[in-house]
Amino acid sequence: MRRVYLDNNATTPVLPEVLEAMRPYFAEHFGNASSIHHHGQETRAAVERARESVAALLGCRASEIVFTSGGTEGDNLAISGLTRAGDHVISSTIEHHAVLNSCKHLEAMGCEVTYVPVDGRGLVDPDDVRRALRPNTRLITIMMANNETGVLQPVEEIGKIAAKADVYFHTDAVQAAGKVPIEVKRLGCDLLSISGHKLHAPQGVGAIYVGKGTVLQPMFYGGSHERSRRAGTENVPGIIGLGKAAELAREAFERGDLAQMAAMRDRIEQTMLSEVDATGVNGDGAPRVPNTTNIHFDYIEGEALVIALDLKGLAVSTGAACSSGAIEPSHVLTAMGLPPEIARASLRFSLGKQNTPDDIQFALDLVPQIVARLRELSPVYNRAAISY
Ligand SMILES: Cc1ncc(COP(=O)(O)O)c(C=O)c1O
Repeated sequence: MRRVYLDNNATTPVLPEVLEAMRPYFAEHFGNASSIHHHGQETRAAVERARESVAALLGCRASEIVFTSGGTEGDNLAISGLTRAGDHVISSTIEHHAVLNSCKHLEAMGCEVTYVPVDGRGLVDPDDVRRALRPNTRLITIMMANNETGVLQPVEEIGKIAAKADVYFHTDAVQAAGKVPIEVKRLGCDLLSISGHKLHAPQGVGAIYVGKGTVLQPMFYGGSHERSRRAGTENVPGIIGLGKAAELAREAFERGDLAQMAAMRDRIEQTMLSEVDATGVNGDGAPRVPNTTNIHFDYIEGEALVIALDLKGLAVSTGAACSSGAIEPSHVLTAMGLPPEIARASLRFSLGKQNTPDDIQFALDLVPQIVARLRELSPVYNRAAISY
């Protein structure tokens, strides 16, 4: 059976070039990068080349890159590494749980957190961030691109607000890296986290930009790896993979490959909206990364649609979470003001570098058919359909 994967915001396949770059670092060049002998020095040099490559993707110095185990660790390190009981933090209602639950932890430890809302397009208003500032505000943590809708937040404006107020600014750029160019100095952020597996490097590796002069309390205690900012023997093959993926991402920007991805994404939206009634794009009208679209197919349970599509070979997802046995609608979509039934009827299609126009055609042939079949079984749709 043909299988098409359009769930690249969940994870991406490792690109062949990335795998090739990593391969020698499992058995041939296996040294511990902290060892002073030949084996260690060989690995150290490769890790430092990877650091240069990640720094080039983010527009910073290599010394400002700390390798981590992924996005969750980077977000946790930024948030708990800067705050103490009594501090105030500003975040948003649409963050990934890596940020939201770090903030919940801070609240339990005696910090106060303000979660600024988003509008109907999923955008934070920088004025809300400004208004939320307090004399004890220590950190603003607001994501660059949302994982469910792809909506890009006004991080540059938020960076200016943070700088003016002399408050630290962290942005979770896990879903932005490799999809839009990033210049940390232009963003004005002090910390920015990325994750390898969202940009065709392996799972379990990531990096955080820590601007010069930003001192973080480490999360782990151990050796003086990563200039004492992250103890633990480096995941060398993963780091080499991330370095290669960062290099490929930069080359793709230079070639303008992302315009083709945006065109495929737009084709999904245009065709779905014109061929299927009672649909709409969540986050429409807001700036978005080129690979993501989130579409609601009213009168359908998104989970049922995901399963029906998977049975026919198409992998997509919903942002719903299973909580105590019940399916909770996505916190991102409900924060945007979508009624729970529309949020539950929403599906995310997210593209990766491996996807071709044929993959898109496969989805476009399949989805309207399956939506129609599920709606045939929906009494609510059949009652409402009279008005279409
Ligand atoms: C926006 C965002 N932040 C953080 C994470 C967590 O990254 P990781 O899976 O590398 O821990 C994800 C993963 O889905 C994400 O989409």
